[in-house]
Amino acid sequence: MIRFGVIGAGRIGKVHSKTIALNSKAKLSYIADAMPAAAEALAAQYGAKVASVDEIMKAKDVDAVLIGSPTGFHAEQIQAASNNGKSIMCEKPVSLSVELIEQTLKVVEKNKSTLMIGFNRRFDPNFGELEQRIRKGVIGDVELVTVISRDPNPPPADYVKGSGGLFRDMMIHDLDMARFLMGEEFVVVHALGSALVDKAIGVAGDVDTAAVQMQTASGRIAVITNSRRATYGYDQRMEVHGSKGMLSARNVHNTTVEVHNAEGTKADPIQNFFLERYGAAYAHELNTFIAAVESGDRNPKPSGFDGLQAQKLADAATVSWQTGKPVKVA
Ligand SMILES: NC(=O)c1ccc[n+]([C@@H]2O[C@H](COP(=O)([O-])OP(=O)(O)OC[C@H]3O[C@@H](n4cnc5c(N)ncnc54)[C@H](O)[C@@H]3O)[C@@H](O)[C@H]2O)c1
Repeated sequence: MIRFGVIGAGRIGKVHSKTIALNSKAKLSYIADAMPAAAEALAAQYGAKVASVDEIMKAKDVDAVLIGSPTGFHAEQIQAASNNGKSIMCEKPVSLSVELIEQTLKVVEKNKSTLMIGFNRRFDPNFGELEQRIRKGVIGDVELVTVISRDPNPPPADYVKGSGGLFRDMMIHDLDMARFLMGEEFVVVHALGSALVDKAIGVAGDVDTAAVQMQTASGRIAVITNSRRATYGYDQRMEVHGSKGMLSARNVHNTTVEVHNAEGTKADPIQNFFLERYGAAYAHELNTFIAAVESGDRNPKPSGFDGLQAQKLADAATVSWQTGKPVKVA
């Protein structure tokens, strides 16, 4: 039985708490949040106890810590959990600072802690299957990866100020997926960005519309396009082209019902945002972590290294957008 302490009872902390509560191999023991009322409400829902972050880190009856606090706290909380012998599942991104991620991974390595990072899209049944078929050789050698990712609505301009910007906050998921599907590291990143959706996002120093091209040492290419607006829902599609064919994964609709009439064929809207679209992925992700901790697998994926590499690409994309030049990635 893996006994959990959950840190952060916000949007993502609630999703993960539900998965822990439903898994017969796990127990939701403690919940901590900077706002006591948030921790109390979630704890009451699942019969867990409220505790401070420090109490969870030191508790003898906690095996694993789920970190769902705001990004700025992840690195210090990973280090504290690692130094107290806990297994760690941490939400993306690990940190907005590559140096801090590297320092944190050294602590994790020294303590031989189990650490998994919440790049949930790898666990989406459709995208996961797409990656499996690449590895089985269904399309031969991968040559081009295309990732399309558009949110239904932009966040408030105030949010973007503390987010690290679109490339680190939003595109980080797509950068990880591009690495995951390509199976080879990218060595150069070229980005374009604009504030076309909300001028206030531009005034705040960020973009809401962006495109990135990346290339690997062997010449393979990935293209990512992002928008903070899609009038038709949460647009999440991928396409991988190879020497023997092409794999694609379409959007998921609210139902599979279609209306056919003289005007044409109409499908239901696509799922609106991440909580619906990736509900199954979040559960599969955390159940994978629980299984890894149970079986003693110390290297579940996505790893801390995956978190570091995605952050390096996000930093390179940000610099490329700012300078208008391609940026090499070490
Ligand atoms: N993988 C995904 O798809 C996904 C989706 C949403 C959020 N996230 C990530 O999860 C993290 C949390 O995002 P959210 O949307 O749930 O935010 P949120 O604001 O809804 O929740 C965060 C919670 O953490 C609490 N908190 C603040 N400081 C804390 C501290 N020092 N220790 C403990 N708790 C603290 C807040 O009171 C709040 O209840 C972010 O890093 C975000 O990037 C990932």
